[in-house]
Amino acid sequence: MRIIVCESAEEVALKAAVESIEYLGEALSATNPEATCVLGLATGSTPLGLYREWIERNRAGEISFRNATSFNLDEYCGIPASDPQSYHTFMHENLFRHIDIDPAKTFIPVTDGDDLTQSAERYEAMIEEAGGIDLQILGIGSDGHIGFNEPGSSFSSPTRVKTLTKRTREDNARFFPSIDHVPRTALTMGLGTIMSARAILLLATGKGKAKAIRDTVEGPITAMVPASILQFHPYATVILDAAAASELSLIDYYVDAERNRQR
Ligand code: GLP
Repeated sequence: MRIIVCESAEEVALKAAVESIEYLGEALSATNPEATCVLGLATGSTPLGLYREWIERNRAGEISFRNATSFNLDEYCGIPASDPQSYHTFMHENLFRHIDIDPAKTFIPVTDGDDLTQSAERYEAMIEEAGGIDLQILGIGSDGHIGFNEPGSSFSSPTRVKTLTKRTREDNARFFPSIDHVPRTALTMGLGTIMSARAILLLATGKGKAKAIRDTVEGPITAMVPASILQFHPYATVILDAAAASELSLIDYYVDAERNRQR
């Protein structure tokens, strides 16, 4: 795992933009129609800074999403895609409507229908048909979940319906009129799906994420901390602000390693 420690959330956003643009290279320049990319996208407050950076650079003509396809990690069950709190609405409002991505190439799990098992299987097949995810953006829950893979999730899980923990529902209640409005289940890419991405960029900011980050980066690999499986990923980068990094025991080492990193 590559650990990048930043001073602030703003710097996390900037660094994540620079890293993602560098990694995706020509696929974000739209000069070569052959150079395409598949993005894995996340919701939550954490990636908003990165999305703002992408939007600004897209507006300035520095990057283009014309050759990109995107797959979001998850969607709540039990609320329509048109609901203000759905992840469909979130992505439209906070990213898609501001950039030049083709809306027909943006995918979010569909939870409106009756057969969610079929919807999940279809989603997996679509990711595969698109050639797999090149770069997966992740946030992290305070209990170490990624997507909506709660503690106890199988490390090889595909996209499926998961029941949300009380803690996750409490964490996300701030977006809803009350906790009773927070859905109890969601359709989420599995840990197996996430691990199949060619590269992963996990972002975390704030003291509330410090323990989850310590457990993810330095703890044992355990289904009780779903993000800890990322220790097995050959190309996982974790970008943190000082508060989220504050419980890491090897923080000086990570800072030193980054300073001496060969480009
Ligand atoms: C939700 C999402 C996750 C996200 C997490 C943290 O549970 N399903 O993908 O990482 O929230 O959100 P935030 O960045 O707002 O702390």
